[in-house]
Amino acid sequence: MKGIILAGGAGSRLDPITRVASKQLQPVYDKPMIYYPIATLLQAGIRDILVITTPADRPRFEALLDDGSQFGVSFRYATQPEPKGIAQAFLVGADFLGGDPVALVLGDNIFYGELGFDEAVASFDGGALIFAYPVSDPRRYGVVQFDGSGTAISLEEKPLRPRSRYAVPGMYLYGGDVVAIAGGLQPSDRGELEITDLNRVYLEQGRLRVRTLGRGVAWLDSGTHDSLLDAANFIATIEHRQGTKIACLEEVAYRAGYLDRAGLGALVADMPASGYRAYLEEILAEEPG
Ligand code: G1P
Repeated sequence: MKGIILAGGAGSRLDPITRVASKQLQPVYDKPMIYYPIATLLQAGIRDILVITTPADRPRFEALLDDGSQFGVSFRYATQPEPKGIAQAFLVGADFLGGDPVALVLGDNIFYGELGFDEAVASFDGGALIFAYPVSDPRRYGVVQFDGSGTAISLEEKPLRPRSRYAVPGMYLYGGDVVAIAGGLQPSDRGELEITDLNRVYLEQGRLRVRTLGRGVAWLDSGTHDSLLDAANFIATIEHRQGTKIACLEEVAYRAGYLDRAGLGALVADMPASGYRAYLEEILAEEPG
């Protein structure tokens, strides 16, 4: 399975900080926001990733992440000329996908805990698989409603009167037909190809599965000033308490076996003195195995 990270969009809700660089390059505590969705994909076993950015910010993402070979993975880049909705990612990424199944993760979504994404990816067999997560204010999100037996029966984007508390987080799995289905969507009233409309096609075809994320999972977005601050505080709290880092890409790649000890050592040797480097030096000093 391939991966797409959507890191386009104007980030207007974070103005004026997004005048300097796009939302997904802003810090969430001690690393750029995009590290978190990249870690989500790498931990799910996905190593072939397309990063979709704005044209203006593409060089900055490339400078930050390069071609991924330093982590033992592959990053490629494409641009979304104008933000025309999340489902546009599949049209932008059509050549990259080449008919393969895909996991799409939104560049401002942060997942933490026992997600089960690795198993979901490994067992995926087509159609669409999305997730559901209870939130206190579902009006900000895509919302999924279940019937008494737990089957999804409706999907709505940012409903004024939500039919459930279950938001749909920004991690979605699709079979290779997603490009054709996205190509058949009509833009919404706000002129965008909505991910919720795409998922509704799968729902109506009886090919949508929805997994509820458990209470031990944290799902945060970081697209507003308050949610960005909350996310940073959350990451800092866990990192301080545990003495570990969340979404440290070098560590993730190393522990996943994408990067060997020598490769990790070479990355660390190039880093300036920092807490980030010191953390990785501790990992290098661990007994192998
Ligand atoms: C988007 C989607 C929404 C989803 C959310 C997850 O909303 O449209 O369905 O629940 O991402 O973060 P946005 O936050 O881009 O407005």
